[in-house]
Amino acid sequence: MHHVLNRALLAGALALAAGTATAADKIKVGFMLPYSGTYAALGAAIENGFKLYVAEQGGKLGGRELEYFKVDDESNPAKASENANRLIKRDQVDVLVGTVHSGVAMALAKAAKGSDTTLFVTNAGADAITGPMCGTGIFRTSFSNWQPGYAMGPVAAAKGHKTAVTITWKYAAGEEQMKGFHEGFEKAGGKIVKDLTLPFPNVEFQSLLTEIASLKPDMVFAFFAGGGAVKFVQDYHASGLGKTIPLYGTGFLTDGTLKAQGDAAQGLLTTLHYADGLGTPRDQAFRAAYSKAYDNMQPDVYAVQGYDAAQLMQAGLQAVQGNIDDKAKFRAAMRGATIDSPRGKFTLSAAGNPVQDIYLRQVAGLENKMIEVAVPKLADPARGCKL
Ligand code: PHB
Repeated sequence: MHHVLNRALLAGALALAAGTATAADKIKVGFMLPYSGTYAALGAAIENGFKLYVAEQGGKLGGRELEYFKVDDESNPAKASENANRLIKRDQVDVLVGTVHSGVAMALAKAAKGSDTTLFVTNAGADAITGPMCGTGIFRTSFSNWQPGYAMGPVAAAKGHKTAVTITWKYAAGEEQMKGFHEGFEKAGGKIVKDLTLPFPNVEFQSLLTEIASLKPDMVFAFFAGGGAVKFVQDYHASGLGKTIPLYGTGFLTDGTLKAQGDAAQGLLTTLHYADGLGTPRDQAFRAAYSKAYDNMQPDVYAVQGYDAAQLMQAGLQAVQGNIDDKAKFRAAMRGATIDSPRGKFTLSAAGNPVQDIYLRQVAGLENKMIEVAVPKLADPARGCKL
């Protein structure tokens, strides 16, 4: 007995001296997320989702315990490289999990690639991350901005809308989701009469709403999220515009926001890769576990994306028996995994982005109720990715 123990201790000491990890060491996970600002609730939901899956596995992935490091990125692209390097260089994390804001995520992906650190993108849709910036160590468990934007195109055209005005924050997420909508709507015969923007994270919408009233399009298509989405939906409703010009959006407009939006959001139609009322046993089990773990809170799309990052990591770690230093095998196993997500099963494209159903949802009470699959198994075109 003593012998065995001593030998294990010796092996540990040797490994430590050589700077290599052993199965007894914890895997270091770095969360780079917004814990303040307009996206604060989104960051919290991602972390909750990730930790729920780990708890369901008895606190371990691939048989190893995890140690968490956290940075509040404030959704501030100007501080993104420095924040990423805190986790990479100072904390020496094994994997990065983040983030919400596309501009911050592009800097994070660059830092991850530069240091060959595996990255799980748990929200930010920046098309470039699974486009020109793609890499074998970069995985997204959320969406590309193009995906939910594109999916609304055929839906809106089928409702008879011929003209649209788009409105969003002027940065990658908004611009790319609107671009996706342009592509889907124009292909289906629609025409965009004007693209309106304001700087992130501003919420002074009045002059833009006045402009929409004078342009009189058949519909409006919007991307806002978090605190900004709450204010936009309320202002649109208060302006009375909704009576003549219906508002549509990507699902971020109404996900995790319905309690605060109240009456203003009722009936809104959005497209997203998750919905309430999917009714599958997998989703129901996830939702019950989430609300039990987190004070009766209902999960949203952000919680699902965090949960699935942990599931994906588990698939990779199982393939290498917890030896995360076997990067090539760890990553290859994840690239080939099928994830049994609450949203429905999905696989990853060669570029590392989910190939997934995009749902049409409608707000009813506190739910984004699933109406139908708007586009099944939608794959991002991954323009510019050489993988
Ligand atoms: C993004 O910046 O990519 C982003 C942020 C919030 C969302 C969706 C996308 O809800």
